Amino acid sequence: MKVTIDGQEAEVQEEKTILELAIELNIEIPTLCHHDGLEPYGACRLCIVEIEKNGNKVLDASCTRYVEDGMIIKTATEELVEKRKLIAELLLARTSGSKELKERFEKLGVTKSRFESKDYDCLLYCGRCVRVCKEKVGIEAISFVGRGHDTKVGTPFSIDSDVCIGCGACAEICPTGTIKVKDEGSTRYIQYFNTKLKLKECQECGKFFSTEKMIGKLKEDFPSFPEGYFDLCETCKKIKEIKKFLGVKQ
Ligand code: SF4
Ligand code: FES
Repeated sequence: MKVTIDGQEAEVQEEKTILELAIELNIEIPTLCHHDGLEPYGACRLCIVEIEKNGNKVLDASCTRYVEDGMIIKTATEELVEKRKLIAELLLARTSGSKELKERFEKLGVTKSRFESKDYDCLLYCGRCVRVCKEKVGIEAISFVGRGHDTKVGTPFSIDSDVCIGCGACAEICPTGTIKVKDEGSTRYIQYFNTKLKLKECQECGKFFSTEKMIGKLKEDFPSFPEGYFDLCETCKKIKEIKKFLGVKQ
């Protein structure tokens, strides 16, 4: 396939999205819902580009639109810059914002929103937490619940989830810092989802280091690992490995 992107001709051998092509060519397109480790999603529309084919021009999300032969792609026209600013303002109206988010929007020239803030905190349109839980953890402990204005991300019936393993991947990937994980004593709290889980003590040093459910899942997923491997915290695992390497009796 032959395409033109920002005036540059490119030959594309295999199927890829416009965003993937742009990244390869060091062309920066702003993104938000997109995450390298997750499936393309196309919800926030921050990554829109102009695509011309057979004389027709459209704006489309570059993270979900695949490259087609003969496309003429523009990533930074005046229209795109203005539209992205508007999208950023609309998104900013939903959240008090994290450092990461503010930096992303600042790059687009947006530092505040003209729209009324409802202090939702969760952007909703990114869905990264829901996707990581499904695609990477394989749990689906959270999803979009409710309707219309009341839609939010949560556990079924918004109660303490018995499926959540407390891995914290949702908090890790959330660009607004809405989801927080807090360990207190022997309990882990996933604050945004009213979920609490029991922590497990390291068999060697006694420190709480992970949730019991997470250790259970690791044991189930990796049955070939040595007995007791997942019952140790990272530090004790390393000490054990060093001792083994040095030939010190365990
Ligand atoms: S909680 Fe965070 S990751 Fe999940 S949809 Fe909201 S902003 Fe996105
Ligand atoms: S990054 Fe492409 S639609 Fe969100």
